[in-house]
Amino acid sequence: MAGNDDQAHPWWRRGVVYQIYPRSFQDSDGDGVGDLAGIERRLDYVAALGVDAIWLSPVFPSPMADFGYDVADYCAIDPLFGDLAAFDRLLAAAHARGLRLLLDFVPNHSSDRHPWFLESRSSRDNPKRDWYIWRDPAPDGGPPNNWISDFGGSAWEWDERTGQYYLHAFLPQQPDLNWRNPALKAAMLDVLRFWLDRGVDGFRIDVLWHIVKAQDLPDNPPNPHWTPARTERDRLIQAHSTDQPEAHALSAEFRALTDEYGARTGRERVLIGEIFLPNDRHARWYGTPERPQVHLPFNFQLIESEWNAATLRQVIADYLAMLPAHGWPNWVLGSHDAPRIAARVGEAQARVAMMLLLTLRGTPTLYQGDELAIGAVPIPPHRIRDPQHFRQPHLNIGRDRSRTPMPWDASPHAGFSSAEPWLPLNPDWPTRNVAAQERDPGSMLALTRALLALRRAEPALSVGGMELVDGPAGVLAYEREHNGRRLRMMLNLTSAPVVAEWRGTPLLSTRAGTPEAGWLRADEGVILA
Ligand code: NOJ
Repeated sequence: MAGNDDQAHPWWRRGVVYQIYPRSFQDSDGDGVGDLAGIERRLDYVAALGVDAIWLSPVFPSPMADFGYDVADYCAIDPLFGDLAAFDRLLAAAHARGLRLLLDFVPNHSSDRHPWFLESRSSRDNPKRDWYIWRDPAPDGGPPNNWISDFGGSAWEWDERTGQYYLHAFLPQQPDLNWRNPALKAAMLDVLRFWLDRGVDGFRIDVLWHIVKAQDLPDNPPNPHWTPARTERDRLIQAHSTDQPEAHALSAEFRALTDEYGARTGRERVLIGEIFLPNDRHARWYGTPERPQVHLPFNFQLIESEWNAATLRQVIADYLAMLPAHGWPNWVLGSHDAPRIAARVGEAQARVAMMLLLTLRGTPTLYQGDELAIGAVPIPPHRIRDPQHFRQPHLNIGRDRSRTPMPWDASPHAGFSSAEPWLPLNPDWPTRNVAAQERDPGSMLALTRALLALRRAEPALSVGGMELVDGPAGVLAYEREHNGRRLRMMLNLTSAPVVAEWRGTPLLSTRAGTPEAGWLRADEGVILA
């Protein structure tokens, strides 16, 4: 059991983050959309899973053009999800179970219905005009520069009334905020204080590397590697629209503010930054020991890498090697933006992937439903909701498939709601649901719980050091060690048996039955003591 010096590590190093997509976790009022009271009702499930913190995707008032990532009021709760009282109840209920709660802070853009933007667009001399990024047209009347929205199309929207364009890195309904304006910045820092005062344990920060743009908004250079199979955004390298020094400075300010709360209240608050950048630039988001930035710049490489042992070994080695000495690693395997892992690699490998996620050195983020190995969910055309799909339908990159409701049991609508859910359920929900998997010791849920329990019991798996070791082709092997306790993971990333010498006592396998010395079965991952 724990009891070594692992307790000297803060919870966000030892622990596991569970992402809840509130629209799809549990509905409590019969409108087919999940809500805060629903999440509260299911907290015992989350606690029993064995995770340490919940990150809630946005629950703030929103027209839902981007399902909550278009915020119309940063300091309230959308009635769809409940109200501030419901939030306070959820927070207290989470804390009562030893679970931390992180909110989603969306600083790059607001909704176009936010009162700030309504004021800003009302006239050129409105005091809040400069809270957003407005520019005159180019000489030909077109957009001020060549920037492309991450969802496709120009990143500029023409505003007839005031005769200027405004910038939006995502949807036109998500105008970018101008963090160079001191009043906007002060207002947004107050947003952080508002939630910290309410007792939240930190934030996941949406598209953190986007939040400041190069001063004169120069054209972005073309990407020589672009092909039409890639998103339109990738036609350009986002050299001037993202990853600016001023954004790092803000990240350090967010950290100083949260650290100050931690010091004052004796309860450390944590920042997770959404960052998509190559390793060397990614590492800079940790800041320096003297001026730290976010605790955990999200690492999406398990999502982005090809699923084979050689590639993953290299990716893991490169990532761990680039970490600054004070930087703690982290790993993400799924999210509301990425295809489901079980859809990508199949259920048998999804079990191996779960073992990988929960045994690598670094804080894992587990996405709701991956503990059930929810796989491909076909979304009939008339039920597609994701705005990203509608901007670039030919790419088939709609995110609805990973946002489908949690299947809880075999009752109507899988126990998620008393009404038809806002997105379809996974087609196999009558058998692939929480209740069914709770009864089945061989289920993905059982495996996930066992992995989380082992991780909690074995400090080597949470805070221990890590060393990649050689294994046969197709096998990813590594060791974790803490205070002399050494565990070895051997993961067969192929669907064929592999001859593999191993010694020691198997503590856990991704497959039923006892692992047999001398080889790994197809799709088998084992943890050896
Ligand atoms: C990243 C979020 O995870 C995604 O869902 C959203 O569409 C964009 N940021 C824009 O806020």
